[in-house]
Amino acid sequence: MGIKFLDLNRQYLAIEKEIDEAVKNVFTGSDYINGKAVKEFEISFAKYTGAKHCVSCGNGTDALTIILKSLDLPAGSSVIIPANTFIATAEAVINNGLKVIFADVDDDHNISPQSVENLLSEKVSAVIAVHLFGQPAKMNQLEKICKKHNIFLIEDAAQAHGAEINGKKTGNFGIASAFSFYPGKVLGAAGDAGAIITNDPDIAEKASLLSNHGRTEKYVHKIPGFNSRMDTIQAAVLNVKLKYLDEWIEKRNIVASAYIDQLSPISDISLPFISGDDIRHSWHLFTIRVKNREKLITHLNKKSIEHGIHYPVTLPEQPAFTSHYKYCKGYKAVSFSPFLLSLPIGEHLEIKDVNFVVRSIFEFF
Ligand SMILES: Cc1ncc(COP(=O)(O)O)c(C=O)c1O
Repeated sequence: MGIKFLDLNRQYLAIEKEIDEAVKNVFTGSDYINGKAVKEFEISFAKYTGAKHCVSCGNGTDALTIILKSLDLPAGSSVIIPANTFIATAEAVINNGLKVIFADVDDDHNISPQSVENLLSEKVSAVIAVHLFGQPAKMNQLEKICKKHNIFLIEDAAQAHGAEINGKKTGNFGIASAFSFYPGKVLGAAGDAGAIITNDPDIAEKASLLSNHGRTEKYVHKIPGFNSRMDTIQAAVLNVKLKYLDEWIEKRNIVASAYIDQLSPISDISLPFISGDDIRHSWHLFTIRVKNREKLITHLNKKSIEHGIHYPVTLPEQPAFTSHYKYCKGYKAVSFSPFLLSLPIGEHLEIKDVNFVVRSIFEFF
């Protein structure tokens, strides 16, 4: 019995007819670029998240890049991001001619508000909070800090579709938020796709221009922008999948609580936790910290239990950011990375699969 980390074929087969029909409609309508399904998705995703505006784009990295560009931050100013995130968060900053500063994380792996405060200076123009693994970052504290220092708060919600704080969906706390619909995400397309949500009409207008060559109408370009449009085929797929998102998140929550209940007696494992009663975690990843990780991985491999590491090293430990390592080397994020291990989670898992993973881990210990 093997356990897959992700099973996109199984997901497809469960909704095959709807997906096939939606994709076929794009072909018969031949509206491949900025087609009907794209508008429909922007409306539905704005409604789902409770945001006033949704601007679709090519991928989550572009969503972050476009948000930063729309904010017109002072050239050469700095943006604080967490040390443990996917590289895209940093790339968006650097590719806008801005400087990145890495903040430490707390035990929930999300950016530490205290670390953000310690790193603030006149040069900082924005903070990007990443809702890592699907757990919302501490937005209330971060909002207060950013407001007090008059800097922008942006959300990287690439891993947190449908997550909430006190009934409010992630994506609605900062000035604007980026989502990725990379296939493996909780809401994933059949290729690259992304979106920006915001409650600010000016940002929405600018982001919309930027994502489509700064174009107001054919061959009229108000500003130089990007070619970052969501393909109509991707929007058609997402329109189908969005209807299942809450059901899938609920299934992920069932898997996560089964893991937490059953693995808690193992003292060599630090389990992920939901950081408050008002939090809805979307469990994009179920990431534990474990001693003897490499040996456990060998054992899981023998049992054909797929797994991941998010991420093998923090960004300041990457060759691209070595100059940052000196102020980050004492970070909790750096001390965590040799122990991180992501177990399979997703709507493809049944309780018997979770029990098999748990039993195999118990066998190891
Ligand atoms: C935290 C985070 N930010 C940004 C991105 C970038 O999204 P995309 O791959 O759609 O460009 C990802 C995707 O992996 C991510 O996990």
